[in-house]
Amino acid sequence: PTLRTLVPVHGVPLSIEIAENWEAVEHFQAQPDDLVISTYPKSGTTWASEIIDMIYSGGDHERCRRDTIYNRVPYLEFRIPGLPSGIEQLNATPSPRLVKTHLPIQLMPESFWEKNAKVIYFARNAKDVAVSYYFFHKIVTALPDPGPWDTFLDYYMKGDVGYGSWHEHVKGWWEKRHDYNILYLFYEDMKEDPKREIRKMLHFLEKEMSDDILEKIIYHTTFDVMKTNEMVNYKTIPNDVLDQTISPFMRKGIAGDWKNHFTVAQNEKFDEDYKWKMSGTDLHFRTEI
Ligand code: A3P
Repeated sequence: PTLRTLVPVHGVPLSIEIAENWEAVEHFQAQPDDLVISTYPKSGTTWASEIIDMIYSGGDHERCRRDTIYNRVPYLEFRIPGLPSGIEQLNATPSPRLVKTHLPIQLMPESFWEKNAKVIYFARNAKDVAVSYYFFHKIVTALPDPGPWDTFLDYYMKGDVGYGSWHEHVKGWWEKRHDYNILYLFYEDMKEDPKREIRKMLHFLEKEMSDDILEKIIYHTTFDVMKTNEMVNYKTIPNDVLDQTISPFMRKGIAGDWKNHFTVAQNEKFDEDYKWKMSGTDLHFRTEI
């Protein structure tokens, strides 16, 4: 059994709303100046998007995108009943567009590669993602109760969660990073030295920026500031959709919170499983900084 109504799309479990709309996703028309922000869920999508949106607005957060449904940047594949779909929103967005997605690389619409669009992939270590995804299941009413942590962790390790296996996701994007226009960044690095990492983004985007503006972006995208920013903290979403009284969307925002949740036994089992799933790749993660 899976944790929710997940439907395999080319073997990857996706929510039924996304699966039903799959043809529209597959045929999505990208533009050469689209910038894709790609992540496995709970890897800091909102954070990376806010940084990039501020880069696009020249550090002026008044000029950032105003949409609150999807935290400013539409998710390509999302369809929330009663709201415009990600694709409908994107089609109504003037270019240059920012496009969020959680899709594994093999499910990306071909059009992005044909147009040679740029992608910033933002990855976070598997253990912190597991914890963050667990709390997310508790607060999103459309997702079933994740049950006890131990049970959820088993589902997660097996890839029986939305968007499938974390391991496959991070490896898939990593392996193709030189074939396409992909900048691969890490949550833990951004935490450690945002200036260094944002400069990598600027270089990739071929944009220049003064140090003053860079500092402003760093300040506005710190966890504490974003936590109080209604445009990005999902507070405008009603409680019956996202119940932040249980746990805030901006929960902890640190590297290493997994240590407060994994037991020694769970950690050993996780490491064992991780070792063989990640064997043969030169992709390495830090689980603390
Ligand atoms: P935690 O649950 O560990 O706190 P996503 O946007 O992909 O759903 O990821 C959400 C995770 O990113 C949450 O992790 C959230 O707190 C964290 N996050 C959001 N904004 C952040 C920021 N400015 N700095 C660090 N972490 C941030």
